[in-house]
Amino acid sequence: MQQRTEKWYQQSYKTNGFHAQRKYPNEELCRFMGRNFFKISVNQRKDIRILETGCGSGGNIWMIAKEGFDAYGIDLSAEAITLAEQMLKLYGVQCNLSVQNMCTMNFPDNYFDSVVDIFSSYCLNKEGGAFYLKEVKRVLKPGGVFFSYFPSKASDTFTNKGDATFVDDDTISSVLRADSPYYGNNYNVRFLHPREYEQQLTSLDFSIAHSESLNKTYNNRNENFNFVVIEAKKGAI
Ligand SMILES: C[S@@+](CC[C@H](N)C(=O)[O-])C[C@H]1O[C@@H](n2cnc3c(N)ncnc32)[C@H](O)[C@@H]1O
Repeated sequence: MQQRTEKWYQQSYKTNGFHAQRKYPNEELCRFMGRNFFKISVNQRKDIRILETGCGSGGNIWMIAKEGFDAYGIDLSAEAITLAEQMLKLYGVQCNLSVQNMCTMNFPDNYFDSVVDIFSSYCLNKEGGAFYLKEVKRVLKPGGVFFSYFPSKASDTFTNKGDATFVDDDTISSVLRADSPYYGNNYNVRFLHPREYEQQLTSLDFSIAHSESLNKTYNNRNENFNFVVIEAKKGAI
């Protein structure tokens, strides 16, 4: 189902190495960690398991490991995981890394205190996205928290998709308009309205703790790219 994505990312990591993705953590992820986990004392953090799905070359997960949490990262791309191993070495920290598909994770039920998705599950089409959220629910402990930084349908890349085709209501086939941010991402790219994302999570009995929008402009404010920043707890708050 995700061969095109895997091929594209394998090539991107092979060609660009650490320049393919971020080296420092996403700011919204830092806020999420601060809200939920930084108040936990340093000697208790090793008992908190946190998974990043689609961890890429490790730009986020090294920070989670460095802060003393029991960090896990998975990615579809073996090249990404090789780079992430090097990134963790650079920072002198350890993490459990593996090549896995986020839709069919090889982890026990109720295993993680938190699962984070930083601009990764958008690579799944609508059907894959539904599988993914069920998997997130399965691997999270009751009361565990899910965090996602995800493209919103308010983005010009979605409303003005150029020659790209719709794969389903939420997903375009590629980013083909040359002045779009992420132009050349030649794989499925999915977008959601914040309300749609909230509804998908509440229908799986998650409780929404935070649901925000973040807008970034490009090309001297001619192009908008909007993100859903969402945090949800498995079960009641
Ligand atoms: C835009 S990158 C983001 C990487 C990282 N989260 C970051 O913020 O630097 C998206 C990542 O998701 C991974 N990915 C896409 N589909 C996946 C899937 N089905 N299972 C696991 N990883 C996937 C890609 O290989 C890629 O490394």
